[in-house]
Amino acid sequence: MNIVIFGAPGSGKGTQSERLIKEYGLHHISTGELLRDHIARGTEIGKVADSYISQGNLIPDELMLELLEHEIDTNSQKTSKGIIFDGFPRTVPQADALKALLARRGSGIHAVVGLEVADDELVDRLVKRGLESGRSDDNIDTIRKRLEVYHRQTSPLREYYVSEGKYCPIEGAGDVEKIFGDIKRAVDTLV
Ligand code: AP5
Ligand code: MG
Repeated sequence: MNIVIFGAPGSGKGTQSERLIKEYGLHHISTGELLRDHIARGTEIGKVADSYISQGNLIPDELMLELLEHEIDTNSQKTSKGIIFDGFPRTVPQADALKALLARRGSGIHAVVGLEVADDELVDRLVKRGLESGRSDDNIDTIRKRLEVYHRQTSPLREYYVSEGKYCPIEGAGDVEKIFGDIKRAVDTLV
């Protein structure tokens, strides 16, 4: 079972992924965490990634895809029950590439969980987290840029997955455990 957890910056993708991993025994791939790990280790990829992330821009599709494919292939023994993709795909070319990449491995996406949260609340959450996260993109200017990039480049994927019959809209504001309950119900009916 492969699940995409989809939503704007701060919508709760990481928070709900933790619960999904435990519930379904899935392997978690967060492309944001992957990139932050490169930044922390000071790799060449990390240096390139930092220049995009700190400005609130997406890193180029080609680089992202290379990293993702490497991550899937080096963790193949951990992915037997499936993968939860957090923060990927973020563009239509990434979604097309993910479909092809999984098809080559005899698999596909089973459900796309879309966490829907109003922009004002997203800004509040991320500003609050920025007080202690240490993330270079958790400051008000970059938060606004990330939201603009989300609406322009990533939100079209909602329709992409609606048309494939895979999109499960979830109200992403409110109690974290209640949201998780809604996700479980949606996933269980779709897979
Ligand atoms: P990424 O790391 O994916 O960050 P993001 O999408 O901006 O989202 P966040 O991780 O900030 O939020 P989240 O949705 O995980 O929410 P969380 O659970 O943390 O990407 C970072 C950057 O990397 C991108 O901008 C881009 O530059 C690059 N990148 C990554 N993937 C890429 C790709 N595929 N292609 C190109 N570039 C890519 O929750 C947020 C806060 O809210 C937390 O404090 C949490 O405690 C709180 N919270 C959670 N749920 C609730 C709730 N129900 N009520 C109240 N508070 C809540
Ligand atoms: Mg996250």
